[in-house]
Amino acid sequence: MDGKVKNVAILGTGLIGASWAAFYAEKGFRVKIYDTDRSQCDFGFKNAVEYLNFLLEHSVISADTCEKAVSSIQCAASIDDLANDVELVQESVSERYDIKKDVFGKLEQSASSKCIFASSSSGLLVSEMQKEMKYPERILIAHPFNPPHLIPLVELVPGKKTNPELIGFMADFFEKLGKTPVILKKEIPGHIANRLQAALWREAIQLVIDGVASLEDVDKALYAGPGLRWALLGQHMIFHLGGGTDGGIGYFVNHIGVSFEKLWKDMAKWEHLPAETKERLTDGIKEQMNGRKIKDIAAWRDEKLIEILKVIRS
Ligand SMILES: NC(=O)c1ccc[n+]([C@@H]2O[C@H](COP(=O)([O-])OP(=O)(O)OC[C@H]3O[C@@H](n4cnc5c(N)ncnc54)[C@H](O)[C@@H]3O)[C@@H](O)[C@H]2O)c1
Repeated sequence: MDGKVKNVAILGTGLIGASWAAFYAEKGFRVKIYDTDRSQCDFGFKNAVEYLNFLLEHSVISADTCEKAVSSIQCAASIDDLANDVELVQESVSERYDIKKDVFGKLEQSASSKCIFASSSSGLLVSEMQKEMKYPERILIAHPFNPPHLIPLVELVPGKKTNPELIGFMADFFEKLGKTPVILKKEIPGHIANRLQAALWREAIQLVIDGVASLEDVDKALYAGPGLRWALLGQHMIFHLGGGTDGGIGYFVNHIGVSFEKLWKDMAKWEHLPAETKERLTDGIKEQMNGRKIKDIAAWRDEKLIEILKVIRS
């Protein structure tokens, strides 16, 4: 951990790995990528280039930066080749302990003992991944939000054996790259943001199943209301403002908290998705899609995200 990360390896070039590749390349790192085979790696490369071109088209990066970024990404020939001569590995393989443990074992055979391993895992515990590692102090979770080349959040999670200095080092590293790192003081499945999403999603499903509103209106009630504020402030600050200029969060807890208690009593508490979930969500989303394609909505989302980020950063 000498502060000189120049070469980054991305293992797994699916949805998240390809986006990480675009992110690191755009920031000026030399990026090596690898997946299970060459064709999968080529697919990831093609997507990373597409993301970079998208950033160019929307004036986020210059033509020169785009050209340099594209030429800085290379497909490695093997995991050995990938891990050789890099200071940071951003692991982005499938979300399974057996696969993650297997690839970290292989990476350790070729990576230098100082190379940092950052796992993109959305919900696994890093202590479990550390169990059979030779140098477990080098690994942490650096969980992005999709797509990492646009969304600033990165959750940093230590395992039991992670070097405590590594967390601070990576927070500083990501902050300098324009990301918004948050640090978990201890690991917990799903980290912070996905636990919050899980709590919200359960109630959103229940509202659809109970026929309280259409799926489209449940979604609208999020993006046209609280979602707009969430782009700027978190829940606690929003409620601090909700408590009025004199009262703040203390007033909110004392006087409005009780009405939340009534809601919690009435809300969904199940731990397994109700049997009708898939059918109800599929039907509801079909209506909301109205013939549009996922790819087109994702492109529209990314265009708008760029505009929102410009406003927030201005
Ligand atoms: N999808 C999301 O929204 C999201 C968001 C943040 C983090 N993540 C996390 O990122 C990681 C990857 O998720 P994803 O959505 O990109 O999945 P994905 O299925 O799109 O990509 C996973 C890639 O890993 C590759 N892979 C599997 N086993 C491998 C191996 N042994 N060696 C090399 N490559 C291997 C697959 O071929 C695939 O290309 C997961 O840990 C996930 O939890 C996902």
